[in-house]
Amino acid sequence: MSHNLARTSRPHELASRLNSGLRSAIISAIGESAATTDPAIKTAANPKFGDFQANFAMSLAKSLGKPPREVAQQVIDAAPQSLIDICEPFEIAGPGFVNIRLRAQVIAEALTEMDCPALGISNANRTHTVAVDLCGVNVAKQMHVGHLRATIIGDTIARLFERLGWRVHRQNHLGDWGLPIAMTLAALRRARVDLDRVTLDDLNTAYRNAQAEGRDDEAGLAAAHATQVGPHRVAELEAQHEGAAAAIADAHDTLRRLQSGDTIVVADWQKLIDVTMREVYETARMLNVELVPEHNRGESFFRDRLAPTVDAFVHANLATRDAGALVVRFAGRERPLLIQKSDGTSLYATTDLAAARYRLQDLGAELVVYCVDARQRDHFKDVFDAVQLIGWTKRPDATHATLVHVPFGAVLGADKRPLKTRSGENFTLKALLDEAIARGRREVHARAAIPDSPTSSMSSAELDAIGQAVGIAAIKYADLSSDVGRDYVFDLDRMVSFEGDTGPYAQYAHARIAGILAKAAAANAVSGAITIDTPEERALALNLLRYPGAIEDAASQLAPNRIAAFIYELANTFNAFYQACPVLRGVDESTRASRLHLCELTRRVLADALSIMAIAAPSRM
Ligand code: ARG
Repeated sequence: MSHNLARTSRPHELASRLNSGLRSAIISAIGESAATTDPAIKTAANPKFGDFQANFAMSLAKSLGKPPREVAQQVIDAAPQSLIDICEPFEIAGPGFVNIRLRAQVIAEALTEMDCPALGISNANRTHTVAVDLCGVNVAKQMHVGHLRATIIGDTIARLFERLGWRVHRQNHLGDWGLPIAMTLAALRRARVDLDRVTLDDLNTAYRNAQAEGRDDEAGLAAAHATQVGPHRVAELEAQHEGAAAAIADAHDTLRRLQSGDTIVVADWQKLIDVTMREVYETARMLNVELVPEHNRGESFFRDRLAPTVDAFVHANLATRDAGALVVRFAGRERPLLIQKSDGTSLYATTDLAAARYRLQDLGAELVVYCVDARQRDHFKDVFDAVQLIGWTKRPDATHATLVHVPFGAVLGADKRPLKTRSGENFTLKALLDEAIARGRREVHARAAIPDSPTSSMSSAELDAIGQAVGIAAIKYADLSSDVGRDYVFDLDRMVSFEGDTGPYAQYAHARIAGILAKAAAANAVSGAITIDTPEERALALNLLRYPGAIEDAASQLAPNRIAAFIYELANTFNAFYQACPVLRGVDESTRASRLHLCELTRRVLADALSIMAIAAPSRM
């Protein structure tokens, strides 16, 4: 799932300087034949032996037929001045590892260089464009926990690329067109429901009732299930096969009027969208997710592009007739991609082909990221391959754009089955968020009641606001910190805990540093030149220096959990530092100034990383 992002050069990233220094040492020692040898630099497992370890000697020794320690020595002796300048004398250990310790002065200089508004992250990427498919809710249906993932993973990936300076197009591929929505609309109109006063709950009920009105074509459905085309296409066929002739006829009539632009039907349809989106925006706001009407590129947006899409495949000789329907076939794959049904109507896949073309050709995206449920894996594989076949990924500069599906796993209940309420219903997202906020508030109020806690003096309203931030952080962090593709168990107790790899723990680390800085400010203590003396200062500094690389890796791997992993490690490293290194008291002025500077940088990096996940960083908790 990785995408190749051009890595920018980062002078403060000492690991890359070590890497190029060692590469040239290897070439001068062994010759051009070793030009492709990877210096194999790793962060040292035990800081006692250094900051990094280089393991190139073992593999090199094998091909040279020499003892690894001898090869290691040979390479070290050939180290260029640029390498000698930044390292303490090298040590060879064990079978032939090279232990590397950076000079304290060099670390301090690199940190000072990173101490700029961008925190060392290059954002000179204005020429790059990415489209992020996120949210993707369906009109007239409540948001459930699956949409939480599509929304916050998508928002985080969008923010990651924004942070790196890309042009980012958020694309909310709303399910707002086609037979299912026409069925709901028809049912509501038959029942003369006042569409100016309905709630999303009403719509949701109407949607389900409309779907349930007769299911008589069992054979057709069984066939659809047997072809294993994925849940979405089955759902589509289910809708098609639903019996109750009258309701279906009415739905088809409504759809026809909708498609032909009948003013009254279109106005009613728009009301369904408005009711749905009001709640979606409200939820997005609670989650700090950036989602506005301009991001809506729902299925209806592509309605006039469906026929040209099908035509394009026909003209390119890529679509063949199959029992009246049109399909695209792929070499070596039994499953074809259906792009037009035998009755001439188009499908979910047709819309996605049109949407891909729009993103690639109209928006000029070189990368399109789809944050969608893993169950749609086959669907996207087929769509991407079809887009590739027809050549829409080709860019004016002859390079190829990339389409990537970020397939996320399910959210499970304690019983390890998809999260459901006691009565077997899907949890609405709103219910989950409300509960998390209540838990966050309880936690924050309890802490404020402890004498001398930093929040003791706060009003109940202030505590509520912090509690809300904690509850939302708990849910978002738990989601974003798990490996995207894996299922995870929704365990609110663990998520709101202030201990362990959680959102509140990360927020608390930030608030704690903010507290130290506030105390320093009150005592007129100022930060100053950084000096690295103790192992804990060194560890903290090296951790901070890894920030730009962590963010670029998270983007190139489309892996929000890497941001979370960085945050957790930094919070831990900071806590160890703070335990071992007094900052405000019992130190001389220059040590205090240096340590305050480290605190400031840590706070800023934590806040910046949290902001990419759009998690609030309160300064008191
Ligand atoms: N509305 C779809 C669903 O609920 C998700 C849309 C995902 N995006 C896309 N381009 N197909 O399953």
